[in-house]
Amino acid sequence: MNILKKIYCRIFSDLFSYRTPCSSLQRTGTDRRIQTRPGSPEKHHISHILLVTDPGVYKLGLTKPLEKQLLKSEISCTIYKDTVANPTSANIEEAKDLYLAHGCQALLAFGGGSSMDCAKAVGARLARPNKPLAKMDGILKIWHKLPLLIAVPTTAGTGSETTLAAVITDADTHHKYAINDFNLIPDYAVLEPSVTYGLPPQLTATTGMDALTHAIEAYIGRSTTKQTRAASIEAIQLIFDNLQTAYKNGNDKTARHHMLRASYLAGTAFTKSYVGYVHAVAHSLGGCYGIPHGLANSVLLPIVLKAYGTAAHKKLARLARILPAFLIRNLMQLQPKSSSTTSET
Ligand SMILES: NC(=O)c1ccc[n+]([C@@H]2O[C@H](COP(=O)([O-])OP(=O)(O)OC[C@H]3O[C@@H](n4cnc5c(N)ncnc54)[C@H](O)[C@@H]3O)[C@@H](O)[C@H]2O)c1
Ligand SMILES: [Fe+2]
Repeated sequence: MNILKKIYCRIFSDLFSYRTPCSSLQRTGTDRRIQTRPGSPEKHHISHILLVTDPGVYKLGLTKPLEKQLLKSEISCTIYKDTVANPTSANIEEAKDLYLAHGCQALLAFGGGSSMDCAKAVGARLARPNKPLAKMDGILKIWHKLPLLIAVPTTAGTGSETTLAAVITDADTHHKYAINDFNLIPDYAVLEPSVTYGLPPQLTATTGMDALTHAIEAYIGRSTTKQTRAASIEAIQLIFDNLQTAYKNGNDKTARHHMLRASYLAGTAFTKSYVGYVHAVAHSLGGCYGIPHGLANSVLLPIVLKAYGTAAHKKLARLARILPAFLIRNLMQLQPKSSSTTSET
């Protein structure tokens, strides 16, 4: 990279990380219901909401209890259920048109990162109706408040329920890009483990690895703070301790709860400290070839960490020193049953 561009990027990134703690990033609530906006959602007097989800989640009937609850609360709901993995600009325009046609007043994202990002980008288009999505690519291009946005993650990986990003694929060019703006941080995030029980093992593993990648990239990056390093470490510990259990037994409430917490913490960390080259490459693979985001990260993480070479050794060594207890515990769990039987006899 050209030296002047490098200096510009470094100054911009430093200013951004100083501004972040002063922004409207104050999070309150319990560890299941987190809010960045004061007051409860009921206070906003919403009578019609756009629920954004994907075909898989919808077909599994996961939205049904929510629809029933909304009906009980006299909130009618229009459902956009066509979000694809690596959501496209076409998804966003369709969902936005539905929002306007039905006179919706708020957005409820229910699904994985794809549904949450779709809802976030719909909010951005509503806030800036004259600005095409492609012009929002980059940092701080929205500046306007979005309609009320509630996010309920059904995967434990992206952390999109707390991040300032929405990652979108251009339907024509397949270019995948991130829109980053403080206004994209959902007003309310609901971390409900039961909606993740049915997540198949393969998706549990790959989405969990996405969360691990966020935590590691946020930790080894050059814009970390004490807070983001602590959030990264907690997320990594939770993932080491719970991902295998969630993979083997999807109904394990504790493991699912901890994985949602880990994904959320990793999201808070990278929102301030960014991700790195693993994500840069994964986004290209997702945009051009539709490779699921978590899968791309899982394959790329060891390769890119190795390619960083000595530049990353110090911070990775620090992580390695913190983690041995977890590694040992997990390795012991991996011992084949026959060897433990042999040692007992
Ligand atoms: N905004 C951010 O900060 C951020 C961060 C990381 C990744 N992302 C983006 O998020 C997207 C990936 O999201 P994802 O990994 O959560 O996957 P996803 O949302 O694309 O969902 C993957 C699949 O899982 C299924 N699924 C979701 N929840 C389920 C459940 N509970 N039970 C059964 N099936 C379920 C879906 O139907 C879908 O088929 C990518 O586009 C990625 O770039 C965004
Ligand atoms: Fe990611």
